[in-house]
Amino acid sequence: MEEGYVTTKRVMMFLQLLTPILLLPLLISSSSGEAVNSSENRVCVSKGGRSHQAYELEGKLPESADLEFKDLNMCNMFHEKTCCSASRMLSASLALQNLATHGEASKDCLFWFELLECSICHPDVGVQSGPLRVCASFCDTVFEACSDAYFSTSDSTNQVIVPCVASNDTICEKASKLETNGTAFCEAVGFTVAKPAGDSVEEPCYGSKSILVTVVPVVESLMKTVRLQDRNYELLILDLQTCLKIAVFVLESTMIYRLFYQLVRDARRLRRRNRNRRRF
Ligand SMILES: *[C@@H]1O[C@H](CO)[C@@H](O)[C@H](O)[C@H]1NC(C)=O
Ligand SMILES: *[C@@H]1O[C@H](CO)[C@@H](O)[C@H](O)[C@H]1NC(C)=O
Ligand SMILES: *[C@@H]1O[C@H](CO)[C@@H](O)[C@H](O)[C@H]1NC(C)=O
Repeated sequence: MEEGYVTTKRVMMFLQLLTPILLLPLLISSSSGEAVNSSENRVCVSKGGRSHQAYELEGKLPESADLEFKDLNMCNMFHEKTCCSASRMLSASLALQNLATHGEASKDCLFWFELLECSICHPDVGVQSGPLRVCASFCDTVFEACSDAYFSTSDSTNQVIVPCVASNDTICEKASKLETNGTAFCEAVGFTVAKPAGDSVEEPCYGSKSILVTVVPVVESLMKTVRLQDRNYELLILDLQTCLKIAVFVLESTMIYRLFYQLVRDARRLRRRNRNRRRF
């Protein structure tokens, strides 16, 4: 009974998800230049910043996660293709564990914080030459989800915060007590935030609404509709990625077919016109 209900629910979700997914390839193919260059044949470029730890795959193509990385059981959404390795993500994994246990974080918070921590593992981020910038809007979402989770200031300047750790001499406080907004939160956790530049186009950033830059925004907007309390949400993301690939393929095929059809039609019209001209 329970299983049947869950299955129905997932099917319903899937139908909800399908519409935006089908729109996606349109957006992707409309930026022809970007799509050509995007991530094929581009190698991992270390980002510096934050932990200053280089990719082990520096200068090489992104790969699928090795067993060690898979065992960390984090950033699963990027395991298929990433510049990250287990050693690169050990401290992030520890931070997540602290957030779950000592930080008393909600499931939503854990989900968003993981997406934030895993930004460096996104395949497109890995191969981009610029620094990693997180979108302010994405930070707002993380901050909102994590406002009741406990963090502590890790140094005397109070500029840096980490998920609460088990130690007698640190005082943990709710994120909402320590920071006032998403941007300040992301910066305190150690990320560089892309500033929304007035009314001009937002610079490319992780978690942006502009679908071209990353898959995360898709996941993000879908998560909002689906509400991620569902215990199947991880499966859903995986399904989603497969679905996305299929959708892109189908749309590309359709467009190629259309183009071809149009060429044939034009040729036919031309031939007809030539024939008519000859007649007179
Ligand atoms: C494609 O990549 C090359 C080398 O990285 C770069 O010079 C070029 O500007 C890129 N083209 C586009 C359209 O992004
Ligand atoms: C921290 O707490 C533990 C017990 O929870 C105690 O054994 C230890 O002595 C304490 N350390 C300090 C520095 O207060
Ligand atoms: C976010 O908070 C910081 C520090 O509290 C503040 O300086 C900044 O202006 C705030 N930004 C926004 C967009 O509210």
